Formats: sequence, structure tokens, C-alpha cells
Amino acid sequence: STDWKLPDHQKIAKNKVVGVVVLDGWGEYKDDQYNCIHTAETPFMDSLKKNAPNRWRLIKAHGSAVGLPTEDDMGNSEVGHNALGAGRIFAQGAKLVDFALASGKIFEGEGFKYIQECFGTGTLHLIGLLSDGGVHSRLDQLQLLLKGASEHGAKRIRVHILTDGRDVLDGSSVGFVETLENDLEDLRKKGVDAKIASGGGRMYVTMDRYENDWDVVKRGWDAQVLGQAPYKFKSAVEAVKKLRAEPKANDQYLPPFIIVDENDKAVGPIVDGDAVVTINFRADRMVMMAKALEYENFDAFDRVRFPKIHYAGMLQYDGELKLPSHYLVSPPEIDRTSGEYLVKNGIRTFACSETVKFGHVTFFWNGNRSGYFNSELEEYVEIPSDVGITFNQEPKMKAVEIGEKAKEAILSGRFDQIRVNIPNGDMVGHTGDIEATRVACKAADEAVKMIIDAIEQVGGIYVITADHGNAEDMVKRNKAGDPLLDKNGKIQILTSHTLQPVPIAIGGPGLAPNIRFRQDLAGGGLANVAATVINLHGFEAPKDYEPSLIETTDS
Ligand code: 3PG
Ligand code: CO
Repeated sequence: STDWKLPDHQKIAKNKVVGVVVLDGWGEYKDDQYNCIHTAETPFMDSLKKNAPNRWRLIKAHGSAVGLPTEDDMGNSEVGHNALGAGRIFAQGAKLVDFALASGKIFEGEGFKYIQECFGTGTLHLIGLLSDGGVHSRLDQLQLLLKGASEHGAKRIRVHILTDGRDVLDGSSVGFVETLENDLEDLRKKGVDAKIASGGGRMYVTMDRYENDWDVVKRGWDAQVLGQAPYKFKSAVEAVKKLRAEPKANDQYLPPFIIVDENDKAVGPIVDGDAVVTINFRADRMVMMAKALEYENFDAFDRVRFPKIHYAGMLQYDGELKLPSHYLVSPPEIDRTSGEYLVKNGIRTFACSETVKFGHVTFFWNGNRSGYFNSELEEYVEIPSDVGITFNQEPKMKAVEIGEKAKEAILSGRFDQIRVNIPNGDMVGHTGDIEATRVACKAADEAVKMIIDAIEQVGGIYVITADHGNAEDMVKRNKAGDPLLDKNGKIQILTSHTLQPVPIAIGGPGLAPNIRFRQDLAGGGLANVAATVINLHGFEAPKDYEPSLIETTDS
């Protein structure tokens, strides 16, 4: 069993308030007109970089540094916050699914056997994000699953697609649907009745998160389960092309549609006796749908019908809720997180963000675990996000409100650690609206300043970092770093995250003058932050954590 007691740090004093600020989607990149952090007014963050060379550095936030399959995998909030909180690098969902598919083990596991029980008379439904973004799902994994399922007895398959345009370029949905259609055609040639049954844009259909807007999930339910949607098409390629041609349409927000046969009948509603797999490996945007598919008692919206199905997630999405109860691949076992250690060593912890990022500094930070470790010592505050808008319409989001709450918590004297996520750079960056992203970055900078002012007042310490890049580069580039032009000679807006490193800054009156960043950890990444924070609370980090970024000098 775990020894939770952390030894005292020999050189760093205890009992300082530590403010941990995560700027979501805030990477470091060259000065450039498409770098919204550079072109926005961000005087506070700029001053940290300029004024404290030993207390500002860059750390890796993508690829193997956060447990992703390759160095071409951009970072994301799930793996980023997991690494920040857990202090170790775990092979993440993307990688675990790759292994399970490559070895074929996925088809021998309990989860697959469970859905296989329906193959005799029922349909296999696959629901999920259709792209090669690698953040929530991957097309090649879906392809392998389709192939394997048909080889293992699935005779009737329906795919319910969610178009992306957020982890990949807007407009790329058409190509992904064409690829999938070709695969399904191949399966049909082999005698499998395989079709796309419904679709919609990920931000408007199904993939809400943290219960921000259940209507999003309901729209998905209506199309996927009930076979009802405002738009009907004979083919998904046609659907996506037509719906994209509407003014202001984009992949992220396509309305829900269903595919119908010659008699105008939905080709693939979900009915009693069917099997369903949600193919996303990432949890946050599948948990709500998983609840709708699994929970007998459910009142978030009227499901109309609750079919008796065998449902499995690609992964189990919530270890605490054990949701869903069946899954194809076991999730990473992220245990002994820094949050749990610190609470068990008496650190009173306050965590806050607005809804769309709330679970990032709680659920993801704590190793994909919902709830408190010790409700007497912890308080998690969620500020409701605006609903029904795209965040370029309100680029300041709730930055000020988060700043206010954090400030209150710092000044209250009730907490030792105040941890927040400031979402603006990421959420507005994902809209691809450059002007709005600048406003977002400015607002984030102001919120950080508010929080750090409060830290100064109580003689505390701050740690400011980010989970991955986004706002620092808003254009698709070639290998040389020049903007890539499309066939019309136009730049291509990058809505996704990036491969860039992120800054980390430490400071505050409570930070002893002899503390600085180590010079010998050039390859440091997000996973090194947990030990750093534990040290700043006056403790030694657990031995198997990635090393702390800081050292004390004798001067
Ligand atoms: C999303 O879910 O919004 C994007 O796919 C990834 O963004 P995040 O990792 O910053 O949440
Ligand atoms: Co993001």
C-alpha cells in the first residue's frame, strides 16, 4: 500500500500559499503575425519572460513527453493536465488503443466479447469523432476496428460520425468521410451490411463536456438512437458537402443529419439487441453520451426510447464512476497524483475554472478521477460558461471571474494551493478567429496578473504554465515554418493545437532568492511540474516522479 507521507524538503520552507495557473493553449513560438500571444498585449506574461531568466523557461508539451504515440502528436488538455498533475508520463489512450489493435488483444477482451454477443441478430453501432486529429479518436483506429469487428462476426454495422475541424483543418471532414465510405464499400463487397447512419459537427452534436449544454448530447441522441434529425440525405458525403456549403457553416458545427434509404427511412437507428461502441478514447467529451447510453435512471433530457443494448466505450472514461462499465481497452492507470499526495499531507486545495475547462484542473489533474480526495480540505469551484455561443463572440470568456474567485481564495487564508485554468487562448484559438484570439490572450494575461497580485499580497509563490500550444500559431505551416497556401493561394487557418513547447514561470515573494530552475534538465516537460509544485509546498516529491525543475543555490 502507498506511503502517502511526503518527507520535508531540506531547503524549501513550508506554509507558503502556492498559486498554480494553467494558461490553456498558450505555447511559445516565434514572433509572427499569426502568433496571437505575440501580437496581443500581454504585458504581464512578457515581463516574466524578460525579467527573471532563471525563473522562466520552456517545457515540452507534446508527443512522448505527454505519453502520446509519436512526436508528430500535438499536445492536448487531457494528456497535458494528466502529466501536470500526475508527475509521471503514462502511455495515453491513443497509444493504448494502438497497442490493443496491433496485437489483436482488443478482440479478445471482455469488452469486445460483450458487444460481440449482439452480432448474431443485432447491429454494431460505432459512434465518434471522424478525423486523424489523435486528440479524441483516430480514423485509422476506426478503420482497424471496423475490419476486426467484421472479421469477428459483425454482419451489420452502422457508423455515426462527428465531423471535426477543431483538431484538424476545417474542411477536412469531406476527405475523412470519403475514406470511410470507401472502407464501408469494401466491407459491403465482403457481404457486411456496413453504412454511415448519421452525423453532425462535434461541437453541436454529441461532444459537449462537463455538462455545459445537454442539448448538444440530445441532438446526437435523436439522430443516432431515434433516427431523427432536421436533415436527411442519401449519402454522408453529400450531407457534409451540402451542409458545409451553407453560409458560415464549418465542420465543428455542422447540424445533425441522418442517412435515409429509398423509402426515406433512417438506415440505422439504435434498437433493442444492438451493440454500441463509442470510439473516442478521450473521456471528457464522451462521458455525457456514455451516461445517456448506460444509465437506467437518467433525467438530463428525454431519451424517448432507452434501447436495451450492449454498450462499450473504447476506454473506460471515468474510473471513479466506473463509466462505462464495459470497454474495449483499459485506460491508463494514473494513480498517486500530486493532488492526492498534497491533500494527504494537509495541503488545503482550491481549484477553479469555467465549465468548459473545469474538469481539466480537477478530473484530468487528478488522473481522470471525479470528486474530492478529502472534501474537508478541498474546494472546487466551477464558473458557468456561456452556452450556445462560439467563444470568438465572447473572447474574454470568464477570465475576470476566474481571476476574482482565485483572488478571493488566496486572500481568504483558507487554502495552501490555488489552482486555476484560464481557457481563453485555447477556446478562442479553436475558432480560428485571429482578431478574437488576440482579445482572448489579452484577457488571459490580465487574469493572471490579478491572481499574481493576490499572491504578492499574501507573500506566496506562483507557478504559471500552460498545457499545450494553440494561440501562439494560427496558421498551417510547411516544415520550414512558412504559411502553407491552399490551391487558391490563401493561408489555411489552424484551429488546432500545436507542437510548440510552453512556458513555465515561478516567482512571488515567498520564493526564496536561492531557488531557480535547474540548468541540466533541457528536456523537461509537463510531467516535471508536479515535483516542482510539491517542492514549492516544502516537500520532497515521490521518488518515481519526473524530477523537479528547480534547485537551490548556495548564494
Ligand atoms: C477539444 O476537445 O476542445 C479539442 O479537441 C482539444 O482541446 P483541449 O485538449 O484543449 O480540451
Ligand atoms: Co484545445
